[in-house]
Amino acid sequence: MKVAIVGTGYVGLVSGTCLAEMGHNIMCIDNNEEKIKTLENGDIPIYEPGLKELVEKNRKEGRLSFSTSVKEGVKKCDVIFVAVHTPPLPDGSANLCYVEEVSREIAENMDDYRIIVSKSTVPVETGKWIKRTVDKYAKEGAEYDVASNPEFLREGKAIDDFLNPDRVVIGVESDRARQMMSELYAPLKDKTEILITNIESSELIKHASNSFLAMKISYINAVSNICEKTDADIEEVARGMGLDKRIGNKFLQAGVGFGGSCFPKDLSAFIKIAEKLGYDFSVLKEVQKINKNQRGLVIEKIRKSLWNLNNKNIGVLGLAFKADTDDMRNAPSIDIINQLVKEGASVKAYDPEAAENAKKILPGAITYCEDVYETVKDSDLLLILTDWKQIVEMDMKKVKELLAEPATIVDGRNVFEPEEMEKLGIKYTSIGR
Ligand code: UGA
Repeated sequence: MKVAIVGTGYVGLVSGTCLAEMGHNIMCIDNNEEKIKTLENGDIPIYEPGLKELVEKNRKEGRLSFSTSVKEGVKKCDVIFVAVHTPPLPDGSANLCYVEEVSREIAENMDDYRIIVSKSTVPVETGKWIKRTVDKYAKEGAEYDVASNPEFLREGKAIDDFLNPDRVVIGVESDRARQMMSELYAPLKDKTEILITNIESSELIKHASNSFLAMKISYINAVSNICEKTDADIEEVARGMGLDKRIGNKFLQAGVGFGGSCFPKDLSAFIKIAEKLGYDFSVLKEVQKINKNQRGLVIEKIRKSLWNLNNKNIGVLGLAFKADTDDMRNAPSIDIINQLVKEGASVKAYDPEAAENAKKILPGAITYCEDVYETVKDSDLLLILTDWKQIVEMDMKKVKELLAEPATIVDGRNVFEPEEMEKLGIKYTSIGR
C-alpha cells in the first residue's frame, strides 16, 4: 500500500521505516527541511538502535522516501498518518495545534478517498475534531475516513516493538477503513492480535496504557519506601509480586522514577482530559507526586552519605531518561543535577549517547567525561542514574580504587548487589534495599 507519514520524530520515522520493512511504499514527510536533508543524506537525526540500517535498506530497495510536501504525500498515497508532536501546554493538556494544521493541509489536498490516521498520542475525542477540521476544509463531496492507530514503541526498542508488538490497536468507524487498515497490518496478523475498536476506545487505550505503566512504577517506588523503613528488600518483593501472572513482572523496577517524553506528558494530558470530561482522576495525581518525590529521595541519600554537598565532587553515570536512548526529555538527571549544583557540588558526568543533548539542558558548570572511569576518578560519591550496559558492566574493583576514600556509591537503578559492594569495601546505597 502507499502510505504517507507526516512527522519524522521518533514515532513517525520508526513507524514509516517499519511499515516499509513490512513491504509497503512509504513517504516520510516533515516541514523541517534540514531534517529531510539529513535523512536524504543517509543520516538519522535521533539515536535508535538499528534504525539507520533499516532506513538504508528500505531506501535502497525503493520502499522508503522523504519529502517536505504534505501535498505530494496526499496526492500519491492512500493512507496518511499524522505523527506530529503533541507537546504539553502550560496546564498539562496536549497541544493539538500541529494535529489540526496537518489535518487541514491533508483536507485541502484530497482528490480521492483517503484515510487519515492519527498516530500521535492524543486525548480521547481528537478523532472527532480531526473529522470536523477535514469536513471544513475538504472539497465538497470529498470521501475520506478518520482512524486511530496508537503506537506502543519504547525508545531504544522501537523497531522490535513495531515489528513484534504485543498488539496492534486500530480505531475505525467504517468498513472501508477497517478493511484498508487490516490490509496494512496484515503482515503482522499471524504473530499478534490486531484489535479493532471504535476511534474513542483506540485513543483511550493509549493514554490508559501509558498511565497504567506509570502507575505500576510509582506503586513499586512507593513500596520501596516501605522497604527502606523495614528489613524488606524491594528486589525480592517485586520478584514475589511479579510471579503472580495477574500482576506480571514487567515495570516493577524501583528506582529514580520515570522520565522521558511520554509518561510524564501523557499522565498530565490524561488527568486534564478526564477533568474536562468531569472526572477527577486522583490516583494519577498521586502517581505524579510519588514520581517527583523519588528524585528528592536520591538527593536525600546523597546528603546522608556526604553531609554537606558544597565543594564535594560527584560523578554521575547516565544522563538519559533510560538506557539505549539519547533522549534527555524529563530525565530524572535534570532535577537531580540541578539540585546538586545548587548546593555547591562539582559534577562530572558520563552518558554513552545523551551528553550532547544534556549540554543543551544542564547547567554549564558540569564536566563531561569520555567514559565511566574518568567519571569515577577522585569522586567523593558516584551516582548511578541510568542502567546503560557500560555502567552495569564496570569493573567494580577498579571503581573502588579510583573513587576518593571512603568509596561511596548511590545507585538510583539498583544495578549492583549490596553484599558484593560491601565485600569490596564500597559504601553502597540503593533504592528500597
Ligand atoms: C513508553 C511506553 O513504554 C511505550 O509503550 C509507549 O509507546 C511510549 O512510552 C510512548 O508513549 O511513546 P518510553 O517512554 O520509551 O516508552 O520508555 P519506557 O521503557 O516505557 O520507560 C519509561 C520510564 O520508566 C523510563 O524513565 C524508565 O527508566 C522508567 N521505568 C521503566 C522504571 O523506572 N521502572 C520500570 O520498571 C520500567
